[in-house]
Amino acid sequence: ARLVVLVSGSGTNLQALLDAIAAEGVDSYGAEVVAVGADREGIEGLERAERAGIPTFVCRVKDHGSRAEWDAALAEATAGYEPDLVVSAGFMKILGDEFLARFGGRCVNTHPALLPSFPGAHGVRDALAHGVRVTGCTVHFVDDGVDTGPIIAQGVVEVRDEDDESALHERIKEVERSLLVEVVGRLARHGYRIEGRKVRIP
Ligand code: GRF
Repeated sequence: ARLVVLVSGSGTNLQALLDAIAAEGVDSYGAEVVAVGADREGIEGLERAERAGIPTFVCRVKDHGSRAEWDAALAEATAGYEPDLVVSAGFMKILGDEFLARFGGRCVNTHPALLPSFPGAHGVRDALAHGVRVTGCTVHFVDDGVDTGPIIAQGVVEVRDEDDESALHERIKEVERSLLVEVVGRLARHGYRIEGRKVRIP
């Protein structure tokens, strides 16, 4: 399967995918990253792609007259690489109607909380502030809501008394990276069906 990965920051989830593919080989893992897209320049996620010799593209909201135009441009740039699956891994923008019209049903996102709890851009901070004793991460299909699409897999992470946001987020990311690698590989190798809120992987 051809993957386009969308990033906005450090790209450690992207790196986990690249490392797994390099270790297992494209045929065995079942997928390859054909391009990496971002909403901003100068982030480590793009450097990781460049180091791996993978094409990159950047679509900045401010380069477009409206959010909808940005969304259409992102969809167009993504479509140019003919992905089978789009992976939003730390991509900090909401994918809009045009993007979902083209890639809905084959776009997965990873979120650092146990959805439906703590959706949005501050899932780790919100969980910590709420005082939960366990949190975790969720890999789900993207729908037209914010972090509301059908859940594929989740991983649980204990919250420690001494945790601050970054310590807890780092511990979540350890689980998140391996969960994302496992899920993307399964989707790529076995295919899947989305039945309402359920995801079936044969
Ligand atoms: C991940 O925890 C992702 O779920 C969240 O931001 C983090 C991105 O990490 N949206 P990285 O850029 O993959 O290192």
